[in-house]
Amino acid sequence: MIKHETIEKKMGLMILLIIIVISGGGLAEIVPLFFQSSTTKPIEGLRTYTALELEGRDIYIREGCHVCHTQMIRPFRAETERYGHYSTANEFVYEHPFLWGSKRTGPDLARVGGRYSDDWHRAHMYNPRDVVPESKMPSYPWLFENKLTGRDTAAKMTALRKLGVPFSDDQIVNAQEDVAGRYEIDALVAYLQALGKMHSEYTNKR
Ligand code: HEC
Repeated sequence: MIKHETIEKKMGLMILLIIIVISGGGLAEIVPLFFQSSTTKPIEGLRTYTALELEGRDIYIREGCHVCHTQMIRPFRAETERYGHYSTANEFVYEHPFLWGSKRTGPDLARVGGRYSDDWHRAHMYNPRDVVPESKMPSYPWLFENKLTGRDTAAKMTALRKLGVPFSDDQIVNAQEDVAGRYEIDALVAYLQALGKMHSEYTNKR
């Protein structure tokens, strides 16, 4: 038996024992998540993104929207009343990388799909102050000028399929045609309108 006093006086030993205890606790919490069906199996009816939505998601990442917006509704009353049903792990099985975010300068967007019209989103992205006068969100006017080529869309889908996202052969074959020539804003709005609408399990009540 090592005496308590010995542990307290020997820093190296104390650090080693702390690491062992914390890793043990951490592993006990984390490892089961890799095997539970509630975290590894997709929620009933979960669909994949369309080619256009997938490009929109990449624009969302490129523009850093996730730096100001979370996509993760916590199970607290104040959140579920404002944003809708709290997020569950099985909604994110096809998300690579997930975009939960950790900072809410703006509202959570996990279930923003269908909350506003496409026209509202377009006006808001062009200049947020036109629709929300007090907004401090940046404007994204270039999304209305840049067009997508769709050159990489099929390759992205193929890569995601290797990670377990069940894109169909048809989706991959038609990917370029589906997005080529569309404006970036079209893709981003399609993506925003899909958020929270990827399955029908939770109604979008708020
Ligand atoms: C600097 C922080 C910041 C960044 C970056 C940012 N936003 Fe926002 N966003 C906000 C704030 C603040 C609001 C609330 C005011 C408003 O509606 O404009 C908001 C509101 C929104 C809303 C309305 C949400 C609702 O429920 O009313 C959407 C949709 C949105 N942002 C999408 C985006 C997208 C897409 C991007 C990236 C292209 C983006 N935001 C980047 C701060 C940001």
